[in-house]
Amino acid sequence: MHLFPAVDPIPLPAPIWLLKLLHVVTLALHFVAVEMLLGGLLLAVLFSLFRGSPQSLVTARALARRLTVVMTFVINLAVPPLLFAQVLYGRALYTSSVLIGLYWISIIAILTLTYWLLYRFTARLEAGKAAWWVGLSAWVLAGFIARLLSTNMTLMLRPEVWREMYSASSMGAYLPTGDPTLTPRWLLMLAGGLFIGGLWMVYLAGRSTFTAEEKKFVAGLGGKIAAVFGLVYLAAGLWAASVQPDAVKAGLAGQSIYPLYKFAGFAGYGWLALVVVAVLLGAFAGFANLSARMSGWLAWSAVLVAVLTEIMFAVYRDGVRDMTLLSKGYDVWDRVVVTNWSVVGLFLALFVAGLGVVAWLVSVVARAKKVMEGAASI
Ligand code: HEM
Repeated sequence: MHLFPAVDPIPLPAPIWLLKLLHVVTLALHFVAVEMLLGGLLLAVLFSLFRGSPQSLVTARALARRLTVVMTFVINLAVPPLLFAQVLYGRALYTSSVLIGLYWISIIAILTLTYWLLYRFTARLEAGKAAWWVGLSAWVLAGFIARLLSTNMTLMLRPEVWREMYSASSMGAYLPTGDPTLTPRWLLMLAGGLFIGGLWMVYLAGRSTFTAEEKKFVAGLGGKIAAVFGLVYLAAGLWAASVQPDAVKAGLAGQSIYPLYKFAGFAGYGWLALVVVAVLLGAFAGFANLSARMSGWLAWSAVLVAVLTEIMFAVYRDGVRDMTLLSKGYDVWDRVVVTNWSVVGLFLALFVAGLGVVAWLVSVVARAKKVMEGAASI
């Protein structure tokens, strides 16, 4: 019996390797933004709640002011990987999305509420009102969205439970449990939030809008947070990898009909090495007495390590998905491709032009008049 629905007779319009490349790159960027949101928000809540020093509130405000912008990146960088995932894995992903349909569609409403709460959180902080409970509510909702995404991304890999789930609820009102990979995968993303949040603070400390005293506070605490939660992130990653089925582990070691997937396994080691580098970088930022030049250098190193870590993670995770699906009879490479080169060319040209526009926007922001972070509002 076939576990997956029949393949769409319409051929793919671009080479599979190109779709996968674009998928992994855009997904890694989505992950960077998601981790900034999950970690930065929780840190801002904690800094606004425990105001041991004036710098705590300045840091809470500095993070909160940026979170509404980060949210736009979370959403805009989520759409491309969703589209590529649907093209490549539609038969699995559409099925799992329908099976949890009520929850899946509710993401739009939860996301809207989270976004509104983010604005309220920032406004209350700027007005000097108690804001932690608003920020915490936004964080809980964002964490729930993450849970729903982890649920769908793991359910799409389990065709063996689909029929039973549909019999239990054809309304999509039933959330599956019992997948040993689900919770480690979700907790890995949550731990990554505080890790990336710490690196984000190390980056922020390099900005000229902080006073010397504030820079010291932001870099010192951010570095320590990145170092500690880097270790937690490592442990969660090892846990999530260890609960994968044997067929997946073998595939990532190069033992499948596609030996090239050993490079996805290598990406797992790359991820591990980069997190270790980030932990050392965080510890250095956390404990060393940094000069202005050094904090600028560390700021950009933190950005680079964060982006590379998430790229490695996205590649490894892609390998886990392909190997899991392959073990159940779904071969992502087994599709008819009729490349429409004019459309592919147009897409790439617009993609590059879009990147150019974003770079221009960033340069405009960089040239804008600077307001000190400690100022009452911006
Ligand atoms: C607060 C907002 C969001 C959070 C916290 C969030 C979090 C996450 C997490 C944790 C994952 C990884 C799940 C896993 O594999 O275990 C993920 C993947 C994903 N997210 Fe988001 N996300 C958010 C918004 C969105 C939105 C609005 C969309 C759709 C437009 C989206 C599309 C995706 C897709 C398609 C994937 C998986 C792609 C793939 O595996 O190929 N996300 N997100």
